[in-house]
Amino acid sequence: MTTAEHTRVETLRWCADKLEMIDQRILPTRFEYLSYTNADEVAEGIRSMVVRGAPAIGCAAAYGVALQALANQHKDKTVFDAAMQHGYEVLAASRPTAVNLFWALQRMKHSQHAQTGISQAELAVVLLTLAHEICAEDVRINRAMGDFGAALLKDGARVLTHCNAGALATAGHGTALGVIRSAVEVGKKISVFADETRPFLQGARLTAWEMVQENIPVTLITDNMAGHLMKCGEIDAVIVGTDRVAANGDVANKIGTYMVAVLAHRHNIPFYVACPLSTIDMQLPHGDAIPIEERSHDEVTGFGAQRWAPAGVQVRNPAFDVTPAELVTALITERGVIHQPDTAQLKKLMVQN
Ligand code: MRU
Repeated sequence: MTTAEHTRVETLRWCADKLEMIDQRILPTRFEYLSYTNADEVAEGIRSMVVRGAPAIGCAAAYGVALQALANQHKDKTVFDAAMQHGYEVLAASRPTAVNLFWALQRMKHSQHAQTGISQAELAVVLLTLAHEICAEDVRINRAMGDFGAALLKDGARVLTHCNAGALATAGHGTALGVIRSAVEVGKKISVFADETRPFLQGARLTAWEMVQENIPVTLITDNMAGHLMKCGEIDAVIVGTDRVAANGDVANKIGTYMVAVLAHRHNIPFYVACPLSTIDMQLPHGDAIPIEERSHDEVTGFGAQRWAPAGVQVRNPAFDVTPAELVTALITERGVIHQPDTAQLKKLMVQN
């Protein structure tokens, strides 16, 4: 498959008045879409990781709101309003860390409240149109980040990534993997090292799958191999995505990202973060204020039906960590590259919004 063909593998798609999402829990063994008809179902899809990755979660939430309006459009106004309120609440409660979720819900709510004098059926169409636009815009943004980021990678670069910030984590193209795709599109020879990304294995299952589909050379490693490869001079750059960037440039991303950033710093390897503006949260002054999701112990004590830890063992499972801005070489945004991000630069960047 070429890159162009691959981006047609749609993480989310609108089909016969329903949202369909690739079930990312079963990739790469099986490739299946699941259907969604209201906000409760979409919230459960986000919570259970059918869809994951910050921008994709935002897109799913936008469709969740639109579906809630479509599902309740013929009810009387009080019932409709209560259903919409419930929809916003249940979607907002689905996962706490990726700010794109709240950004998308805010955008949908703002659009809903800006409409006056139209029927509920018309409102549902307005909300669905906005959900489509949020997805289309996400792909445009990823392409723009890809163009800026590709220029940072030298021909022949060996790039380490953590988790999955690819087409599967977005509406298409990807953020970190979008930079890699764009570099390949302009003719650079890039090879990827994919951290396995314990415990949910987004690197082994999803990043490796995306790269293999497109014939971009990819080597899978377990998370504890990254330091050794850096020390041996086998990694030229690190690129990751992000779930939320605080006003000072601190970066929340998949658990283990901080460890990779410390190692990259130690070995003088650039550490890049592909970051759409929708992921920057200027309300939070620094990364310590970013809510970190704790997920089920079952993700650590085994995978699927397989258990490897003794029953009764104590477990921690924080799903994200925060990399201090001082370890970030640059944020790659759709407006350009921000080197050594700090509050002043991010304020300037966001003011143009
Ligand atoms: O728990 P997940 O799989 O939703 O975590 C995803 C990540 O941490 C990604 O790196 C991040 O959302 C950026 S995706 C473009």
